Amino acid sequence: MQEQEYIQTLGGMQKEQWDALFQISQMFNDVKVQENLVSEVLDLVVQVLKAERALFTRLEPGTDNFNIIAARNTEHQDINDLSAFSSGILKKVIESGQSCLYHDVQTDPAVSQFTSVQIHKIKSVIGVPIFVDGKIWGVILADSQTNRKNFTEESLEFLKFFSNLVSLALDKVIKIESLQEENLLLKNKVQNTDVIPDMVGTSREMRKAANLIHRVAATDATVLLLGESGTGKDMAARAIHLLSQRKDKAFIAQFCGSIPDTLLESELFGYKKGAFSGANTDKKGLFEVASGGTFFLDEIGDIALSTQAKLLRVIQNQEIIRLGDTQVKKVDVRIITATNKDLKQLVDKGKFRQDLFYRLNVFPITLPPLRDRRSDIALLTRHLIEKYADKPIQIPVKTMQKLETYSWPGNVRQLENILQRALIMCDSNVLLPDHIIFEDENQLTEFGGNLKDFETVLLQKRLAEYNNNRTQAAKSLGVSVRWVQMKLREIEENN
Ligand SMILES: Nc1ncnc2c1ncn2[C@@H]1O[C@H](COP(=O)(O)OP(=O)(O)OP(=O)(O)O)[C@@H](O)[C@H]1O
Ligand SMILES: [Mg+2]
Repeated sequence: MQEQEYIQTLGGMQKEQWDALFQISQMFNDVKVQENLVSEVLDLVVQVLKAERALFTRLEPGTDNFNIIAARNTEHQDINDLSAFSSGILKKVIESGQSCLYHDVQTDPAVSQFTSVQIHKIKSVIGVPIFVDGKIWGVILADSQTNRKNFTEESLEFLKFFSNLVSLALDKVIKIESLQEENLLLKNKVQNTDVIPDMVGTSREMRKAANLIHRVAATDATVLLLGESGTGKDMAARAIHLLSQRKDKAFIAQFCGSIPDTLLESELFGYKKGAFSGANTDKKGLFEVASGGTFFLDEIGDIALSTQAKLLRVIQNQEIIRLGDTQVKKVDVRIITATNKDLKQLVDKGKFRQDLFYRLNVFPITLPPLRDRRSDIALLTRHLIEKYADKPIQIPVKTMQKLETYSWPGNVRQLENILQRALIMCDSNVLLPDHIIFEDENQLTEFGGNLKDFETVLLQKRLAEYNNNRTQAAKSLGVSVRWVQMKLREIEENN
């Protein structure tokens, strides 16, 4: 249509129609096109065109199907059934890509053959396509069933203009939506880079820890991993190494609990031939072996004060001296330590060097206990079952509930152990609540033997729970490692 002609036609529009268009354009100019906005706009269309109903519908891309976005009648009521409208006319608009206007549908040979027109006794109808990005997006339809309405050329122009406004608004909405989607994808990507292989957990606490692991991995900073037994400190240490620039170099882990001082020191720093009886050759220490890589000192709270002094030298000066040697050797190691003890308290008691504590505590990361991140239990359970089961296993809600409500003093390791045992008990492919057996103190209260036997049973249970780790078993029982060793010797002697 020529501009001149267009203006003339527009000029033919009534004031009410102009006002309505202005109002509609204001509404669409809103940044967000809300759901009920379309209904409100359709009410205006019904009113201005003096139609009985108005329909705003979308053509499902790649199909002949329409979806109702909104449909309204003169009473401002929603019409939820698309089949109440003439599908023949909707198709005609789509196929021709043109608007249509019929005053006397029942007798008009072009459309009266449509069954839908007959069924719904449509008298007058006006339909306009909506284009987005040059393609038909949907159709706006206004009709009347009870009275023959005089939809005029002006009505058609009004609806065309209206459809243009809708197209512009939709364009905007669709672009915003696709931006939002893209944003979500990017956000997800960023979050996913925080995911550490094999480290399961999407709880806020776990994401926080994973984020810290990622951040610190990129640096050479000394890391102190804190958290109860079985919360994943070993796993985190390995993750930091694997995510760091040192990943292709050595990762060496040394458990420092319940090891005699000299043995630990000779392991860590090596020795010179003749340093002590039995030192027949020079031996490299682990710090030298780890050079260029990462050194993980587990249970750092247990090391003797003399060893602590030597460790401080490694951290401060990046140098070691082999036992019995005088020569200083340079080493380049990234140090990660872990403990489930309160180091600060050990410092206060004089059992841990304060200077070393500050050196180690540069970047502390606390792995959360499982009971504080119960939302991860289901995920962990599925992960561990998949890891240990040799067939697909169903986990009914009741079983999951039992797992999710337990206190998990031994954290993920305990969950792992209990699931492994449950799988052994499970003959079918359904893991039942009865397969989940917690070895709790309450079970021990039913114990019938004497106190000595009770000690033995409790110790054995604890050792099993802590993978035979005597330090941790001792700690959980509130006794010394020496007591555990003594008790074990006694058990052995009695057998
Ligand atoms: N987030 C996790 N996702 C999957 N498995 C985990 C996770 N955290 C821990 N585990 C598993 O639980 C077990 C215990 O983890 P890990 O040895 O790292 O704990 P820890 O904190 O070092 O315990 P401890 O203080 O007793 O040394 C391991 O088998 C580990 O694979
Ligand atoms: Mg550990």
